[in-house]
Amino acid sequence: MEPRAAADEVVEVATSPPYLVRVGPGALAHVSAACGSASGVALLVDQRVESLHGALLDAQPRLRAAPRLSLEGGEAAKTFGVLERALDFLTDAGLDRQGCVVTFGGGSLGDLGGLAASLYKRGVAVVHAPTTLLAQVDASVGGKTAINLRGGKNLAGTFHQPRAVCADTTLLATLDPDELRSGLGEVVKTAMLAGEATLARLEVLAPALGRRDAAALTELVAACVRHKARVVAQDPLERGLRRSLNLGHTFGHAIESVAGYGRVPHGVAVAVGLSLALRAAESLGLCSDPDYPGRIRALLQALGLCSSLQELRRELGQPLSGGDLLAAMAHDKKGAVGAPELVVPAAPGSVEPGVRATAEQLSSWLA
Ligand code: GLY
Repeated sequence: MEPRAAADEVVEVATSPPYLVRVGPGALAHVSAACGSASGVALLVDQRVESLHGALLDAQPRLRAAPRLSLEGGEAAKTFGVLERALDFLTDAGLDRQGCVVTFGGGSLGDLGGLAASLYKRGVAVVHAPTTLLAQVDASVGGKTAINLRGGKNLAGTFHQPRAVCADTTLLATLDPDELRSGLGEVVKTAMLAGEATLARLEVLAPALGRRDAAALTELVAACVRHKARVVAQDPLERGLRRSLNLGHTFGHAIESVAGYGRVPHGVAVAVGLSLALRAAESLGLCSDPDYPGRIRALLQALGLCSSLQELRRELGQPLSGGDLLAAMAHDKKGAVGAPELVVPAAPGSVEPGVRATAEQLSSWLA
């Protein structure tokens, strides 16, 4: 079946208060309206995205007139130094407590901007206009904000739900190829969690996604957002169900940390994390569908992602030793110190959360 024609889809995230995520080729035109009756607006923008697409914001008078801070995107944005710059910028912009921050960039800029918004004057509104596939399908929805600490990724952060999200899929046409792959890793994760219908649709649309077909991208981004919205509405603070969204992430974060932050795009590391989580599922006897691991590995390959740790090691030319990965996993913020917690995939739409493995088991999967 062909992808459906690309028109905006609107998904409600039923948190308290609820908010809307608009997905599609016209979403960016709604950013100004999404700020609602804010007393003032201040923009945090990724400098690369601004040079490519800044004119789309300028078409909205309130955004054209708003103070704007251009920042380097990627992990470089997620430091105390940049957070301080952002907070000073909001002060200089004269934003009051009824003001609204707009972020225009990838997941890292959204994480940083969301954190600044949650801290400034004890919390002001934020509207995210995510510009990468990864940010559109995952990072911009659900209110997680963070910067990195020396000891690990995303170790300092808050939960601060946005006022709205405007995910314009036309922006994905200019995405760096590595960034596209990275987003596809999170798309695979979400499809595994959402269940058979979404997973089968992703298998069908994989070639179209690789070509950046606008209708296919809009359909899949909307499907991922719908799944995430369901999960976040039930468990906004990650007390239970939301932990399922960390599928592949305990391994993935360790890979990013050992390779050196920024060296392996987040979703590319998550894709390898998915293959390792499947290995864990098989080895622990938790996989209830014998075809599932092979099916996901084939999908990862079809999307140009590494489907094993060995493949990533070859691609990077880095050893990513099992010992280093194991040590990095011991610091994962989702488990007790020294005892990483895994989300293990059992079958499409079904995971086993909170699985503890021994150091020997982990070492054998990371060999
Ligand atoms: N990225 C996972 C979550 O938002 O919970």
